[in-house]
Amino acid sequence: MQVDASAFVRAVLGWYDWSARKLPWRTPPGVQPDPYKVWLSEIMLQQTTVKSASPYYTAFIQRWAQVEALAAADQEDVLRMWAGLGYYSRARNLHRCAGEVVAFHGGKFPDSEERLRALPGIGDYTAAAIRAIAFGKPATVVDGNVERVVARLFAVETPLPGAKPELKRLAGGLTPRERPGDYAQAMMDLGATVCSPRNPACLVCPVGEHCAARAKGLSALLPNREDAKDKPVRRGAAYFALRSDGAVLLRKRPEKGLLGGMMEVPGGPWSEDAGAAPDPSRHAPLDGRWTKLAGGVRHTFTHFHLELTVYCAMVQTGVAIREDADPERCRWIMRRDLEGEALPTLMRKVIAHALESGMSKPGKG
Ligand code: ADE
Repeated sequence: MQVDASAFVRAVLGWYDWSARKLPWRTPPGVQPDPYKVWLSEIMLQQTTVKSASPYYTAFIQRWAQVEALAAADQEDVLRMWAGLGYYSRARNLHRCAGEVVAFHGGKFPDSEERLRALPGIGDYTAAAIRAIAFGKPATVVDGNVERVVARLFAVETPLPGAKPELKRLAGGLTPRERPGDYAQAMMDLGATVCSPRNPACLVCPVGEHCAARAKGLSALLPNREDAKDKPVRRGAAYFALRSDGAVLLRKRPEKGLLGGMMEVPGGPWSEDAGAAPDPSRHAPLDGRWTKLAGGVRHTFTHFHLELTVYCAMVQTGVAIREDADPERCRWIMRRDLEGEALPTLMRKVIAHALESGMSKPGKG
């Protein structure tokens, strides 16, 4: 089945004109969006749903209305505001990117994909999205939603991720010169609403007549995927120390690596070796009477599941932090101030587990 690209684009844009989702970063028809806002929203929307990203987007724009303001912010404040959104390297790159746009581009985002890709945190997808949405220039914007729409439209049976280049080429053949920003966002909306992963609403699809998968009765089965390997499970421990004045011991993680630059409840190594039992005498950040809590905390990262055992200890003010626990990266934070710290969701779960397990009651240990 041959897809008539211009008829397809017309149908997608016609549908978008009356059913576009109202999202905080979108401008009314005919109003050119601010590239800073487009960039910010696209970085937040990488690996994150519209529902989760929207409140963060609004808070960032309220606090840092222009790229210059974000560039001048403390990285710590950016990480604090990002806490809970995950994939924290995005926040560090966001801040670096704002700095580079101000330092090397006079505060104006470039409009070429090549120069956009040279900025921290901007890859193929984001460069194309910024060029199309912020500058109204043709670019082929392919995210997971668009891959699904295109795989169905052309009934591509090659499994993902191997099918990516083919899907990009097919998507490129559809990219219009007119209204490229609206078209890119229309494809995202179509993928997120009508052409959804599990139960595509083919009966109400505005482009159903063009769709090869629908004609073959394959819509819900595509795109094919190579069997995903099960994620391994890593295990470790977190040591929650509550001081007699109500402060909790936190530590800043190294800049590089997972949860880089974020705060943590100090812990030991995370290991896939089932025999590696947690050992407070070696890995706790200070000497104390460590009590193992019942239950634990489970969290899933992109490449592994993590199960943390949580140990708690009540300690006195003046207690020494062990040298091998990196005392210079440690800080005592009053419980009432924890909310404002750059704590990732995993660490918020650890703290909630410790407090719910009775650590909030003074004297219990
Ligand atoms: N996902 C990524 N970018 C998006 C956008 N601009 N609109 C809706 N969903 C998106």
